[in-house]
Amino acid sequence: MSKLAGASTWEESLYEHLTSHELTEGAMLVEYRDAATTSSSSAFRYLSALIMEDEIRHHKVFRDLASALKNDVELDPEAPAIPHMGTWGDDAAAVLTLTEALLEREREDAKELKELTSELKSLKDESLWPLLVRLMEMDTAKHIEILKFVRRHARRAVK
Ligand SMILES: [Fe+2]
Ligand SMILES: [Fe+2]
Repeated sequence: MSKLAGASTWEESLYEHLTSHELTEGAMLVEYRDAATTSSSSAFRYLSALIMEDEIRHHKVFRDLASALKNDVELDPEAPAIPHMGTWGDDAAAVLTLTEALLEREREDAKELKELTSELKSLKDESLWPLLVRLMEMDTAKHIEILKFVRRHARRAVK
């Protein structure tokens, strides 16, 4: 594992954690990729491919976190893989307005998905569809979490 120049113990241990987790993620990614391409069950191939997309993203996020930590510790003048929060650009008010509108839309989306879930309830023992709609509900909860984060911080920048 590559070390960080001039890191504190805490930074060194976090870096170790991030990079070792990235390896675990990479190994799981290979297993899902195999399942997604070689399983004799088309349902399992489909679902494994969905997980694989998430794992690709996890792998990238862990890599970005490790890289951003390294950038920070080594006072690298290059822009970090994960941007600094900053003050939400030169128009934080516009970011805030857009975020609030998007949040509203995501909440409507969540409601619709919930209705769809109950419409599909009768299929839950015979089809992947209810699962897929449920997963979109979970994604929507994630989008709401992201937008609430932006809203909270952009509000501070506007004041
Ligand atoms: Fe993962
Ligand atoms: Fe969304």
